[in-house]
Amino acid sequence: MYKKPLTGIVPVICALVLAACATSAPSIGTPSANNSDAGGTASIPTCAAGSKTAILTPELTEGPYFTANSPERASLFEEGMAGTKIVITGYVYTIDCKPVANALLDFWQANANGEYDNNGYTLRGHQFTDANGHYELTTIVPGIYPGRTEHIHFKVQAPNGKLMTSQLFFPGVSQNDSDGIFDQRLLLAIQETGDGLRGQYNFVVPAP
Ligand SMILES: [Fe+2]
Repeated sequence: MYKKPLTGIVPVICALVLAACATSAPSIGTPSANNSDAGGTASIPTCAAGSKTAILTPELTEGPYFTANSPERASLFEEGMAGTKIVITGYVYTIDCKPVANALLDFWQANANGEYDNNGYTLRGHQFTDANGHYELTTIVPGIYPGRTEHIHFKVQAPNGKLMTSQLFFPGVSQNDSDGIFDQRLLLAIQETGDGLRGQYNFVVPAP
């Protein structure tokens, strides 16, 4: 089970963001209207169906633990790995809402104890979006470490486009409020499903 009381949070979010939650939670695996936020006040447009413009994914510091040349793989999860498994899906769009095929996504993160593998490639990997601009990442919810809330680092780049670096965050984490790097525009939309924890985020990159 995800350790955050998500079932208690969702009604609060819905109360604050009626437009986003009035009917049902956003479906996973299809383009969503926006990336959600914990406070319900600052979602950013990321290419809702039919929309023509979006806002670039905010960039944040790379931090000290990036390792180049990660293996190409969509799953960072390994059998027996501690932590809560999560499948994160979404799309890469250009700022004019065209899906980006073959976009690079490179993810790296701490393990459930808040530790990075700086000697190998545990919880590190890159992948490319499919012909529809879609990606799917299987991993675990990262642990916190001093000064930092739960986060997954990423780099995203359209073919021949600008390489952008930033971080994804998790809603309902108390340490979000005390993390100076945290940005609510980079919050995953999280759902608990019968099949486990699911996350959703759409990346928006400059047009090549
Ligand atoms: Fe980090």
